[in-house]
Amino acid sequence: MSENTQRYLVTSALPYANGPLHVGQISGAYLPADIFVRYLRMRGEDVVYVCGTDDHGVPITLTAEREGKSPKEVVDFWWAHMKETFDRFGISFDNFSHTSTEIHAENTRHFYEKLKSGGYISEAESKQMYSATEGRFLPDRYVEGTCPVCGYKEARGDQCDNCGSWYEAYELIEPHSKITGGPVEVRETTHLYFDLPKFSERLTEYISGQEHWRTSVKNFILGFINAGLEKRPITRDISWGVPVPEPSFEDKRFYVWFDAHIGYISSTMEWAERIGEPDKWREYWQEPDTKMIHFIGKDNTVFHTTMWPAQLMGVAEGGEEPYALPYDVPANEFMNLEVPVEGERRAMQMSTSRNLAVWLHEALDKFPADPLRFYLASTLPETADVNFSWRDFQGRVNSELIGNLGNYVNRVLSFVGKYFDGELKRPENLPDGALAAFSDFKEIEARYESRMLDERPREALSELLAMGRSANRFFDASAPWKTRKEDMELTGANLYVCCAMLGSIAYHASPYVPDAMERLRTFFDGPMERITDLDLPDSYGTSGAKPLFARIEDEEIEAADEKLARAVRGE
Ligand code: 2FM
Ligand code: ZN
Repeated sequence: MSENTQRYLVTSALPYANGPLHVGQISGAYLPADIFVRYLRMRGEDVVYVCGTDDHGVPITLTAEREGKSPKEVVDFWWAHMKETFDRFGISFDNFSHTSTEIHAENTRHFYEKLKSGGYISEAESKQMYSATEGRFLPDRYVEGTCPVCGYKEARGDQCDNCGSWYEAYELIEPHSKITGGPVEVRETTHLYFDLPKFSERLTEYISGQEHWRTSVKNFILGFINAGLEKRPITRDISWGVPVPEPSFEDKRFYVWFDAHIGYISSTMEWAERIGEPDKWREYWQEPDTKMIHFIGKDNTVFHTTMWPAQLMGVAEGGEEPYALPYDVPANEFMNLEVPVEGERRAMQMSTSRNLAVWLHEALDKFPADPLRFYLASTLPETADVNFSWRDFQGRVNSELIGNLGNYVNRVLSFVGKYFDGELKRPENLPDGALAAFSDFKEIEARYESRMLDERPREALSELLAMGRSANRFFDASAPWKTRKEDMELTGANLYVCCAMLGSIAYHASPYVPDAMERLRTFFDGPMERITDLDLPDSYGTSGAKPLFARIEDEEIEAADEKLARAVRGE
C-alpha cells in the first residue's frame, strides 16, 4: 500500500437467501456501498468489497418448509439468483460468498472457542414453545397466537404486527404452531449465552469516540446500551445452522446472528484464497489503519453496533488476533412504495408476502441498470424514510439524467462532431469565463468529494447535478450556435472548455451510471478527470454523440404502476 492510499474493507449486509431482492434492500445496503466503493477505486484507494448470502436462521427454514424443500436447496437457489441480479445491476463485489460453507463454520467455531476461553460464554435454562405433535421446539416465528397486549389474533411469536409490542412467545394467548396449526406448550431448554453486558463500558467508550458516525445511529445505540444490555442466547433448538462444538448441544445450532457477521470475514478469506494470497484477508481485518465500513438497513443497527463489535473485542483479547473494530456503520432508513390506489397515490410499506414490492430482477427486465441506479441513488434513505415511485423515477430520469447530464454530453459532442470534424485542439488562451467556470467546478468537486467520503452518495449526486447545471450554463452563455457563424476560433475554445467539464462530469457520474460512462469512452476521446487534477490535454476528440440513455415513456410507467395496483387489490 502506498503512503497516500487508504485501506478499506467495505461490506453490505448479508441478505437472507430466501427470496428475490427488492429495491428497498438495494437502497439500504447495496447501492450506496457500491457507489462509494466504485468512487474509492477510481481514486486509487486500496479497497475490498465483500458480501454473501445469510444462509441460516428461521427465515430460511420457514421458506424451506413452506416450499417442501431442504434449506440447502433454498439457499443454493437464491444465492445464484441474487448473484445474477447483483451482477445485472452492476454491484461490484470483490467476493459474493454464502454462510453455509465449511470455512465459515470453522470461523464461527473459532470465534466461539475464543469467546469461551475469554469467559464470555455461559449456559442457562430458558422457556420455549414445544410442539408435541411435531416433536420439536419451535422458534418464535413458528408460533402464532393472540397478542397479549392488543388482542390481535394473528400475532407472531416475538412481535405483534398490529400494535408493535415485543414479548416472549409463551406470553401469547392460545399459542399454536404456524406450520400445523396444532397446540404448543412451554418447556424448559438449555442454551449458550454470550455475555454482552461485560462489554457495556467498552462499547460505550468505542461508540462515543466515533465522531464521524451518523448522529441518529450513534445516539440511538448509546441510548440502547445505556438502558442495559442483556446476555444473548447464541444457540437455537433447530437442525439447520452452524453445529455447536459441545457434546450436549449436538442437536442444536448457533443462532444466525452469532454467525452472520463472521460471514464478512469468511467472504474476505474466500476472496484472498481466490487471488492466491490466502493470508491477505488479515490486512483488511487486523491492521488498525483499515477503515472497515458496514452498509446496512436500520433494522440491523443493534446487532452491528453491539453484538458484533463485542464479538470482535472478545476474540481480539490477548493480542494474537488483533481484530480492528468497524470504522463506520452507515445505517439507512427505510424505503416505502408509492402506489396508485382508487385514484390517489398512497405510500405503503413493502410487503414480500403480498408481493407488494418492486423486485429488482423484474425492474431490470424492463429498464437498464443505469437509470434505475440513478433514480435509487437520488432517493437513498440517508436521513429519513423515502418513497419509491415509478412516476418519480420517470420524472427524475427524463429531466435530470437525460435533460441535464445526457443533454449536455449530446449538445457538446454534436457540435464538436459537426463543426470541428470531431477534433478540438487546445486553444492558445482559454476564453473569457473559462477560469470562473473552472473555479466553480472545483468548488462543486470538493463538495462532491466530501459528501462521498462521508458515505453520503445521495448528497454527492446533488453535486453532480450541480456540475451539470453549471456546465450547461457555460454552454448556453457561450452560445456556439451563434458564435460559429462569426468566430470559429472562439467557438472551438469555448467547446474545448465544455469538453474539460464533460470529462469531469463523466468521472463523477461513473459510480452512479457505470455502463453509460463506459459507453461514453467509445465516442469521447479525452481525459475523464476532475477539473481540479486536470492537465489540459492537447486535444479532445469525438466520433459523434450517441444517446446515453433512453427516455422513460408514459406507457412503461403506467404498466409498472398497474402491477403494483394489482398487488394492492390482491390480484
Ligand atoms: O436482516 C437481514 O437480512 C440479515 N440477513 C442481515 C445480516 S447482516 C450481517 F450480519 F451479516
Ligand atoms: Zn398487539
